[in-house]
Amino acid sequence: MTNISHDRLLIIDFGSQVTQLIARRLRELNVYCEIHPYQRVTMDLVRTLAPKAVIFSGGPDSVMRDGSPRPPEGIFDYGVPILGICYGQQVMMQELGGRVEGGKISGGGGTAEFGRAYVTPNGTLDLLNGWFDNGDEQVWMSHGDHVAALAPGFEVFGTSPNAPYAITADVSRQFYAVQFHPEVHHTPRGAKLYENFVRLAGFSGDWTMAGYREQAVEHIKNQVGDKKVICALSGGVDSSVAAALIHEAIGDQLTCVFVDHGLLRKDEAQEVVGMFRDHMNLQVIHADETELFLGELEGQSDPETKRKIIGRLFIDVFQKYANDIDGAEFLAQGTLYPDVIESVSFSGGPSVTIKSHHNVGGLPEKMGLKLVEPLRELFKDEVRALGRELGLPSSFIGRHPFPGPGLAIRCPGEITRAKLDILREADAVYIDQIRKHGLYDEIWQAFCAILPVRTVGVMGDGRTYDYACALRAVTSVDGMTADYYPFSHEFLGETATRIINEVPGINRVTYDITSKPPGTIEWE
Ligand code: XMP
Repeated sequence: MTNISHDRLLIIDFGSQVTQLIARRLRELNVYCEIHPYQRVTMDLVRTLAPKAVIFSGGPDSVMRDGSPRPPEGIFDYGVPILGICYGQQVMMQELGGRVEGGKISGGGGTAEFGRAYVTPNGTLDLLNGWFDNGDEQVWMSHGDHVAALAPGFEVFGTSPNAPYAITADVSRQFYAVQFHPEVHHTPRGAKLYENFVRLAGFSGDWTMAGYREQAVEHIKNQVGDKKVICALSGGVDSSVAAALIHEAIGDQLTCVFVDHGLLRKDEAQEVVGMFRDHMNLQVIHADETELFLGELEGQSDPETKRKIIGRLFIDVFQKYANDIDGAEFLAQGTLYPDVIESVSFSGGPSVTIKSHHNVGGLPEKMGLKLVEPLRELFKDEVRALGRELGLPSSFIGRHPFPGPGLAIRCPGEITRAKLDILREADAVYIDQIRKHGLYDEIWQAFCAILPVRTVGVMGDGRTYDYACALRAVTSVDGMTADYYPFSHEFLGETATRIINEVPGINRVTYDITSKPPGTIEWE
């Protein structure tokens, strides 16, 4: 939770798959919101958050089932506007004295409805201002149960063929409840409803990156006082923006440690250190520990062993440099809002470890440090906007993600310096091609992997026996799922030719057309 002051909206999450989209729509309206799972929402939390409005999300359960999710008792007397969506509508009706009838999920006889529907207006309602301007509106329905009788004080303001209570409201109390999902893409003008709702609730739209920057700087100053902060700078967008923001707040009380494991891309260490040290005047320690990392990785070919070695050494090295910084009491981390939600999510069961991720999560306790996490409230695109606001170059802000273990996981099998050198060159040519063709920003992540296999080729009059490489490029929203990018054959042909001509050591180029799942983005 934040100490930064701005209007807040509370989203009570009843487990819908699309709750995060509600937050996206609201952030686009410059409204700050927090999603909290229903089990954790007590009236104490509500009073602490002091929201100007509340939204009940959808959810997979049936309000008719004993023990199904409920908002905290007292929420309807709290005195702020409430918007209920789908399950949120049903729970509102049930709690306020209406009736819900079962559809498929609870085994009742009512109609379940999944998919596109059209809502027809029925009277005027401030929530709907400008929404029905073009006649009936397309919406997305996804419900098993439905409202069968309104709670006292409610009226119907919109109907669809299968949902006589598609839009309902108790105008005097500013309780609004809809059967459909205005946050999804398939309700094309749904954003308008959110816009009307927050306007009615009196939000001033004070959630802007310029405002956030100012308040975050103040907050960091108060939190840190005259103590020192250390930050593991990776060159990724999150840690870079966090470092720039903290530096703006406390200047030289911040020291960044850039751990160079020798597994970075071509010229990357110089670019990152050069930018932060020379252009932005941050104190950056360039911890060049290539020998240590590559030495310990020698002869190792198992992906998990490689990851674990790198993770362990990273923490050792960071600690070694951090211990030299006298009086450091805080550790800065680029934790984002989705990480915060995920860690309190109630829907996720225990999941299988596909890859052990490299992070510095265990560091604060180990070193007795307190955390500074100035990006905890931001989505990734907001972090980028903040980075621009702070003057980081846009080429830097738009960079593709790069994994902590670096090129180690793009070099399947044993890692050698010779292979890493070849990989760096091939990757640089590939990325250069993508930039030249104007495709960089359309792609979530693109990189080259050097394969642990050599193949026979012919160049000029001679035989070659060199490495094969694989090009990878994917589109994705969050890295959890991904599709391969559909390059043209011309692009692929031209790129393969350039790599083979310009990079000694590679004589064959392949393109990886695996999506995730079943593949993963990285090769290891
Ligand atoms: P996978 O390969 O799991 O990758 O589909 C999904 C996203 O995560 C990145 N990745 C990592 N990032 N530490 C990181 O900071 C790691 O250990 C790590 N492994 C994968 C990967 O580059 C992709 O963006």
